[in-house]
Amino acid sequence: MNLKGIDTEWRVKRLDLNTKIKPFESEDSELNDFLCEDAKDYFAQMLAVTYLIETDKETVAYFSLLNDNLKRTIQRDLTTEESRIWNRLNRKMPNRKRKGTYPAVKIGRLAVSKKYTKSGFGKFMIEAVMRMYLEKAQLAGCRFITVDAYESAFGFYERNGFSFLTDKDEGKHERTMFFDLKTI
Ligand SMILES: CC(C)(COP(=O)(O)OP(=O)(O)OC[C@H]1O[C@@H](n2cnc3c(N)ncnc32)[C@H](O)[C@@H]1OP(=O)(O)O)[C@@H](O)C(=O)NCCC(=O)NCCS
Repeated sequence: MNLKGIDTEWRVKRLDLNTKIKPFESEDSELNDFLCEDAKDYFAQMLAVTYLIETDKETVAYFSLLNDNLKRTIQRDLTTEESRIWNRLNRKMPNRKRKGTYPAVKIGRLAVSKKYTKSGFGKFMIEAVMRMYLEKAQLAGCRFITVDAYESAFGFYERNGFSFLTDKDEGKHERTMFFDLKTI
């Protein structure tokens, strides 16, 4: 598959304990450190699974996934905005299936190497997560994708169909966002 202006061969790979991680440098040093220092431990402890996009020489991008849920605040603590968000979200559920908690998969970490940003790899990874949960027989129910998005990436997630879950984290550098897989 070719992305904008990328003619180098690349592939997607699931990280395991034997994976030799190739050099990676995104704009965010914490995300670089996670890949090089923690991703294997998270895998070994069954806390997150990491997927790599790599060429023969380097890591182009990666994301890690873990199980999560979308949980509504108790009624008396709901803000007007949260009530609106949950009403809209629940409207897509059959009456008898409406709940205050729904199963989700969380994008724990996601980053693209500086050299490859704005080439479509970020979008490709979001779509890959969607495909994982829509095209394959599900091992367990999963209705939403969640992410604690960095401020600099709010626009990226919005462009990919994600919305904010609450207004309580407004003004913070990291905000919870979600995507309903049933909207595809
Ligand atoms: C944010 C990041 C993942 C985007 O990846 P990318 O490969 O450059 O994004 P893409 O090329 O796939 O862009 C997809 C779309 O999002 C838009 N977009 C990309 N980055 C954006 C940003 N920071 N803000 C707003 N829109 C953005 C693109 O213009 C494109 O729009 P289009 O579909 O209309 O053409 C990447 O810049 C990155 O790794 N940043 C550092 C780490 C980080 O912030 N990770 C997110 C942690 S939650």
